[in-house]
Amino acid sequence: MKERILVTGGTGYIGSHTVVELQNSGYEVIIIDNLSNSNADVVDNIEKVSGIRPVFEKLDCLDFDGLDAVFNKYKGIKAIIHFAASKAVGESVEKPLLYYRNNLVSLINLLELMPKHGIEGIVFSSSCTVYGEPDELPVLLLMEIPNRLMKRLLEIQ
Ligand SMILES: NC(=O)c1ccc[n+]([C@@H]2O[C@H](COP(=O)([O-])OP(=O)(O)OC[C@H]3O[C@@H](n4cnc5c(N)ncnc54)[C@H](O)[C@@H]3O)[C@@H](O)[C@H]2O)c1
Repeated sequence: MKERILVTGGTGYIGSHTVVELQNSGYEVIIIDNLSNSNADVVDNIEKVSGIRPVFEKLDCLDFDGLDAVFNKYKGIKAIIHFAASKAVGESVEKPLLYYRNNLVSLINLLELMPKHGIEGIVFSSSCTVYGEPDELPVLLLMEIPNRLMKRLLEIQ
């Protein structure tokens, strides 16, 4: 039986290419996407390229119970690749709380559900473009972020 991988944001730019590569490598892929920045036609295009139609669930990763139901429906998901996020730099500056809610709560929901459903692995894709300029690269510790984040939010609001 093929191993199952959940790809959130799987109809998006990077997600859709990743789905094809996973399928070509022999995995069964389940896509979750709320289509906020993509189109359901992408599922057809993935099928055209790989010859395999991925499972597609239209769902918002902010919906904790909806995610729980997907994990119950598709038992035995081995790992998650998490691409479902907002990433437009300009909009993130205008609407920081919208971005923090979408990007952080989606991740927290997945992390909270993983142990319940026995999922051990997650790959989180982030270009970090929405979280400001780090003092140094590579960013190794996130310890400073809560303070800096709060200051920045207070400046903006
Ligand atoms: N594009 C790049 O060059 C690049 C490089 C490195 C990392 N990344 C990161 O990879 C991730 C995906 O980037 P992308 O370029 O494919 O973006 P994208 O907008 O094309 O794809 C993101 C997908 O996630 C979906 N989505 C957003 N919020 C959601 C939610 N709450 N629930 C369900 N689906 C949701 C959107 O509908 C979209 O299909 C982002 O975190 C981005 O920062 C992108």
